Amino acid sequence: MKRHLLLLFPLLLLRAAAAAANSPAAPLPKWQTLSGEAPLVIARGGYSGLFPESSQYAYQFAMSTSLKSVVLFCDLQLTKDGASMCHSDLRLDNSTTIASAFPKGQKTYTVNGERIRGWFSVDFTADEIFNNVALIQSIFSRPSVFDGNLPPLAVEDVTGLRPSRFWLNVQYNSFFEKHSLDVTGYILDASRQISIDYVSSPEIGFLKGLNGKLRRGKTKLIFRFLDEDAVEPSANQTYSSLLKDLKMIKSFASGILVPKNYIWPVTKDQYLEPPTTLVADAHGLGLEVYAYNFANDAPASYNYSFDPTAEYLQFIDNSNFSVDGVLTDFPSTASEAVACLAHNNNDIPRKEGRPLIVTHNGASGVFAGCTDLAYQQAVKDGADVIDCSVQMSKDGVAFCLDSPDLMGKTTAIASFMSRATMVPEIQQNNGIFSFDLTWSEIQSLKPDLVSPLSQSGMARNPAAKNQGKFMTLADFLDFAKNSRVSGVLINIENAPYLASKKGLDIVNAVSGALTNASYDTRTNQQVLIQSDDTAVLSTFKKYPTYKRVLNIKETISDTPKPAVDEIKQYAEAVNIPRSSIVASTGFFLSSYTGVVKELHAANLSVYVSVLRNEFIMIAFDFFSDPLAEIATYVGGVGVDGIVTEFPATASAYFRSPCSDANAKLPYTILPTEPGSLLSLAPPEAAPPAEPPAPILEASDVVDPPLPPVADLSEKSAPPAATPPAPTEPSGQPGTSANAVICLLAVVLSIIYLNYH
Ligand SMILES: *[C@@H]1O[C@H](CO)[C@@H](O)[C@H](O)[C@H]1NC(C)=O
Ligand SMILES: *[C@@H]1O[C@H](CO)[C@@H](O)[C@H](O)[C@H]1NC(C)=O
Ligand SMILES: *[C@@H]1O[C@H](CO)[C@@H](O)[C@H](O)[C@H]1NC(C)=O
Ligand SMILES: *[C@@H]1O[C@H](CO)[C@@H](O)[C@H](O)[C@H]1NC(C)=O
Ligand SMILES: *[C@@H]1O[C@H](CO)[C@@H](O)[C@H](O)[C@H]1NC(C)=O
Ligand SMILES: *[C@@H]1O[C@H](CO)[C@@H](O)[C@H](O)[C@H]1NC(C)=O
Repeated sequence: MKRHLLLLFPLLLLRAAAAAANSPAAPLPKWQTLSGEAPLVIARGGYSGLFPESSQYAYQFAMSTSLKSVVLFCDLQLTKDGASMCHSDLRLDNSTTIASAFPKGQKTYTVNGERIRGWFSVDFTADEIFNNVALIQSIFSRPSVFDGNLPPLAVEDVTGLRPSRFWLNVQYNSFFEKHSLDVTGYILDASRQISIDYVSSPEIGFLKGLNGKLRRGKTKLIFRFLDEDAVEPSANQTYSSLLKDLKMIKSFASGILVPKNYIWPVTKDQYLEPPTTLVADAHGLGLEVYAYNFANDAPASYNYSFDPTAEYLQFIDNSNFSVDGVLTDFPSTASEAVACLAHNNNDIPRKEGRPLIVTHNGASGVFAGCTDLAYQQAVKDGADVIDCSVQMSKDGVAFCLDSPDLMGKTTAIASFMSRATMVPEIQQNNGIFSFDLTWSEIQSLKPDLVSPLSQSGMARNPAAKNQGKFMTLADFLDFAKNSRVSGVLINIENAPYLASKKGLDIVNAVSGALTNASYDTRTNQQVLIQSDDTAVLSTFKKYPTYKRVLNIKETISDTPKPAVDEIKQYAEAVNIPRSSIVASTGFFLSSYTGVVKELHAANLSVYVSVLRNEFIMIAFDFFSDPLAEIATYVGGVGVDGIVTEFPATASAYFRSPCSDANAKLPYTILPTEPGSLLSLAPPEAAPPAEPPAPILEASDVVDPPLPPVADLSEKSAPPAATPPAPTEPSGQPGTSANAVICLLAVVLSIIYLNYH
C-alpha cells in the first residue's frame, strides 16, 4: 500500500526533544493511575496543534517532541474500496482540498439521525483521495502555511513511523456499515500486519463485536463517551445514563475515554468545580480512564491562568487520582507536565545565578495589576522580584500602577470622566491622569482587571475583576520587606513632565521612600531602579547597592558597541522586549538578534519583557506553550531575568528538573530554534519577511538632564475650561512591548472569536 513516498522529514527542527537517557533511572515517582505507571500522552492526529491533523509532519513532530512512549492516535475512515485513512472528521472538506479536487463530490447522508452534507470518504476510491487531495489546517488560529502540501495518510503509513504505541478510533462504525464497509473486518486484517494497541469507539455494538476476536492483552478496547446528552446508537441511551453503568462497560472494554469535563466539571463562567468520582469509580472496577479535549489554544478554565501545563497537572497530579492518559493536540506540553512538572511541588530555594523571576505589576495575570492581591499572589507564586511602577497623585503621594492613566486599570471612567485630558508628553490618547487626582480621590476607585487581550474576548479571572486595593509606594515596600522576595524593582517614568509641568518630584519620592524603608542599607533584598530615562538613573548612582536598569521599550535589532558603552555609563542591566531578542515573521520566529550577546559582552544583565501565558501572545514556534517560550529565553539566549505577569508559570519551570540544561533526563524542555518551523513550509506560503527593527544608536541612549521641579504653589490662575469629555473610553494604551506581535494578536484574536 505504498502509494506515495513519505517525504523526508527535515530533522533540523528542534534539537530533538527526547534526548537519549544514559543516566541510571531515577527512583520512579508514584502515580495514581490504574497501573501505577506514568499517564500516557496520546497525540490526536499527531501534533495537530501545529500541522494539519493526521499529516506526516504532525505525526513525526509528535514523536520528536514528546515522551518516547507517546501514543499516535488515528481516527479511522474507509474509502469506497475499503482502504483506510486517518482523518478526524467524517467529512473531508474541512481539512482537505477535496472540494476543489472533486467539485461535484458533495453528498448528503444521515449520520446518527442527523442529515449532514459534505464530501465523504465512502464516495471516493483510495486512488482518488491519495493521489489528488492534500491536507489543510481546519482550525483558523493554527498555522496555514503547511496547507496543500501533505497528502492524507493511511493507517499503515502511520504505523510505518514506528510509534511506541498506536491507537485507532472508530467514531462512525454504523455509518460505514450502512455503506457496506466492514470496519471490523478491516481491523482484524490489519492487526495481522501491524500492532494496534488501542481501539476506541463511541458505539457499544461495534466494540462488543470486536471483543474476543482480537488477542486480549495485545489490543485494548476503549469505550468513548461523547457529550452527556448525545445518544449512543446501539443501546439507544444517552452517554450520561451509560456513565451510571460502568460495570456493563467493563464487560466488553478495558477502559473509557471521556471528555475532560466528565472528571473536572467547569461552571458556565469557566471556573472549575470539585472533581467527580469518575476516576476513582472506574479504577475501582479495573477500568482505565483516558480524558480528551486537551489543546493549548482552547483555554479551559480560569483556574489554570492560561497555563496549559496547570490543566494537565490537575488531571494527573492532584492528591487523589490520576487519569491513565490524556488525548491532546499538543503532546509536547502534556509530556512536560508528565516528565518535568508532576510530583514537583517542592519549594526548593533559588539556585545561585539562575535567572530572576520579575513581576510586571505583580501577578497581574491573576489579579488587577499593582493591587495588594496581585502582590500577595506574586509572592505565593514564587516571584523573586516584585515591581512597582511609581505614579504620583496630585497631592504628591507615590503609589504603584502600570501607567499614570487610570483608565482601563481602575473604575475611573465611571466617576472622573470629566477630568480626562490629553497629555501628548505621555500618550497619544485621552486619559484620566493620576497627577490630576488627589490620593483620596484615587483611593475611592476600584481596581479593574482588564486583560491586554480583552479585545479578543480573553478576559482574565473575571470573578476578581474589581478586587484588591491599590498600594502606596511605602505600603508596597513595607509588604516587600516582610515577604520572602529577594528584591524589588521600582520603575520610574515621566519624571521630566511631572517636575516641570506638575511640580511633582518623583525621583525624590522614590529615593525618600526607599531610605525610609531602610532599603539603602539592607543587604538581604536587592533594589532595582528601572527607568527609560538615563537622567533618572544618574540620580540613583549615589546609592551603590541599587542596581540600575535601563528600560528600552522600542524593538531594536542591534546594539553596536558605542551604544552599549553609553548604556554602561548609566545602568548595570537592561530590560528589553521579546521582539528585540527574537525577530519574527508573521507569527513565526525567524532569528535571534545579537542584542543579548552584545549586552552580555559588556557585563550588562538582560531582562526580557513582558511574558504572558495567553496563547495568542506566543509565537507558533513555542507551540502555544508558555514554558517553551521561557525555556528558549533561558536556555537559548541566557537572559538574566524574565519579566512576567504570570510568575507561577516561570516558577514551575525553574522548580522543574527540566530547567537544568546539564541534567541528563529522558525528556526535557529544549529551546526552540528560530526559523526552523518556518523552513518546513514552502517558501511561497511563508508570510512576507518584515523589515528589520532599528539599530540602537549611542545618541538614542542618553536623555537631557532633569528639569528643576516647578513651584506651582503660587500659581492661582484658574485652569482653562476642561475640554469636553469624550463619550467613549479611549482604546487600551499600547503595551508597547511588541507592536508586531500585538498587531498579529489582534488579527488572530478575531479569528479566534470566529472559531469559538
Ligand atoms: C466544517 O464545515 C462545515 C460545513 O461543511 C462548517 O459549517 C464548519 O464551520 C466547518 N468547521 C470548521 C472548523 O471549519
Ligand atoms: C430510543 O429511545 C427513545 C426514548 O427513550 C424512543 O422514543 C425511541 O423510539 C428509541 N429509538 C430506537 C431506535 O429504539
Ligand atoms: C477555581 O477558582 C474558583 C475562583 O477562584 C475557586 O472558587 C474554585 O475553588 C477553584 N476550583 C478549584 C477546583 O480549584
Ligand atoms: C481529595 O479527597 C479528599 C477527601 O475526599 C478531599 O477533601 C480533597 O479535596 C480531595 N482533593 C482533590 C484535589 O480532589
Ligand atoms: C519618611 O517617613 C517619615 C516619617 O514616617 C515621613 O514623614 C516622610 O514623609 C517619609 N518620606 C517619604 C519620602 O516617604
Ligand atoms: C566583565 O566582568 C568580568 C568579571 O567580572 C571582567 O573580567 C571583564 O573584564 C568584564 N568585561 C567588561 C567588558 O567589562
